[in-house]
Amino acid sequence: MTSRYCVFGNPIAHSKSPRIHTLFAQQTGQDLSYEAILAPVDGFAGAVHEFITTRGVDAKGANVTVPFKEEAFRLARHLTPRAEAAGAVNTLTFDGDAIHGDNTDGAGLVRDITTNLGFAIGGRRIMLLGAGGAARGVILPLLEQQPAELFIANRTADKALQLASSFRVRGGGFDQLAGRSFELVINATSTGLSDTPLPLPPSAFAPGCLAYEMVYGRDTPFMAQARNVGALTADGLGMLVEQAAEAFFVWRGIRPQTAPVIRLLQAT
Ligand code: ATR
Repeated sequence: MTSRYCVFGNPIAHSKSPRIHTLFAQQTGQDLSYEAILAPVDGFAGAVHEFITTRGVDAKGANVTVPFKEEAFRLARHLTPRAEAAGAVNTLTFDGDAIHGDNTDGAGLVRDITTNLGFAIGGRRIMLLGAGGAARGVILPLLEQQPAELFIANRTADKALQLASSFRVRGGGFDQLAGRSFELVINATSTGLSDTPLPLPPSAFAPGCLAYEMVYGRDTPFMAQARNVGALTADGLGMLVEQAAEAFFVWRGIRPQTAPVIRLLQAT
C-alpha cells in the first residue's frame, strides 16, 4: 500500500516540500505519496484529523509549516527532546491513534552548514539574530555542536534575554554588539521576507565569517550587508532540503541524498 504524507500550511501553494519528498521517494525507491494541504488558519487540528480519517491506515505522517508549528506542538501526544526545546513541531508521525511530534529544522540547518557548506560549528562564536519561533527552533541543535559561544541578538532586547536565559546562553539588543565579532551569523528574523536591513555593525562579521540567511530564494539585505564586509553568504535552500531529508529519515529510516535535490532546486 502507498504510504500517505502531506504538508499543512497557510499559505501552501508555493511549498517545495511535495517536490522534495517525491524526489527523495524516487531516489530511494519508497512507495509514498506527498501532497500540500491548505489548512484554514483556525482549523489546523481539524485538517490533521480529516487527513488521518480519509487516508486511514495509509496516513503515516505530515510536515507542518507556517503558521501551525506551535499548534502542532500542542497537538502531538509524544514529543522528541528537540521538539520540546523548539516549542514547535514541523514533523508529525501518525501511529494508530497516537500523534508523535518532532522538529527537524535545527538538524537541517546544522547539516547544511557543516556538511554542505563545510563549515565546522564546534569551537566557533555564533550570533543568532532573532528571538521568535524560527530562532528558538534551531538553538538546541546548534548548542549540541559545542560552539565557543552562542549570542542571541534581537530588536526587542527583552525577548532575546528571555530566550537566551532559557538555554543558559547570553543575549541582548543590537546595541550590545559594539566591539564584538562572530564567525557564524545566522539570520532567523523575518526581515529577509520584508527586505528590511538590520542595524548590525560591520565589525560583527569576523574575517572569514559565514553569514547564513534562513530565508531562501532571494538576495536579502542581510546577505548584502554581510557580503559588503567580506563575509561568505548562504541562503536557506539547503536548510529546507536538509530538514525535509531529516523528516524523511524519521518516517522511513532511510537518509536520501540531498546534494542532487539542492542542485535541482537551485537550477529551477
Ligand atoms: P518567526 O516564527 O519567523 O520567528 P516571529 O516569531 O514573529 O516569526 O519572530 C520574528 C522575528 O523577526 C523577531 O525576532 C522579530 O524581532 P522582535 O522580537 O523585536 O519583534 C524579528 N523582526 C521582525 N521584523 C524586524 C525588523 N524590521 N527589524 C528587526 N527585527 C525584526
